[in-house]
Amino acid sequence: MQNHYTLVLIKPSAVRRRLCGEIISRYERAGLGLVGLKLEQFPPETFAKLYQEHQGKDFYPKLVEQMSSDSICALVLTGPEGVVEKVRALNGATNPVNAAPGTIRGDYAAAMEPDNIVHASDSPQSAEREIKIFFPDFCFK
Ligand code: PPS
Repeated sequence: MQNHYTLVLIKPSAVRRRLCGEIISRYERAGLGLVGLKLEQFPPETFAKLYQEHQGKDFYPKLVEQMSSDSICALVLTGPEGVVEKVRALNGATNPVNAAPGTIRGDYAAAMEPDNIVHASDSPQSAEREIKIFFPDFCFK
């Protein structure tokens, strides 16, 4: 059976609030596997690559600044086909204002400030591209 992967970044505010364990447990309890893990501060250039499609949008400079301001926790998660959608469902709506209770953003954030707790890839193609940014030696198999 083919393995499927996605990338999650636990954002600086959530790392500072010591939410990494809680967030990782939610993915594991949902049956997903943790196959990559890094706690590290990355430079703005790394997030310029990650968010390349958003360059030029009004929120872009703030987003890159938020993400590079402190350590993030980068995860590679694995699961059956649909792992990308599963993780996005567990995360909840992008803007915490709209995120349902019981989702990660719904339970741990009230607004986009200071950030929306987690980033997750939005398609299998993005997942492969994004995993290679944070885990250049990751072995897809
Ligand atoms: S878009 O324009 O619909 O494609 O944007 P969207 O998919 O909603 O969001 C893309 C990423 O930009 C982040 N974002 C923001 N960050 C900070 N402040 C504001 N106002 C803001 N608006 C959007 C959003 O959280 C997405 O990043 P990730 O890391 O994937 O959550």
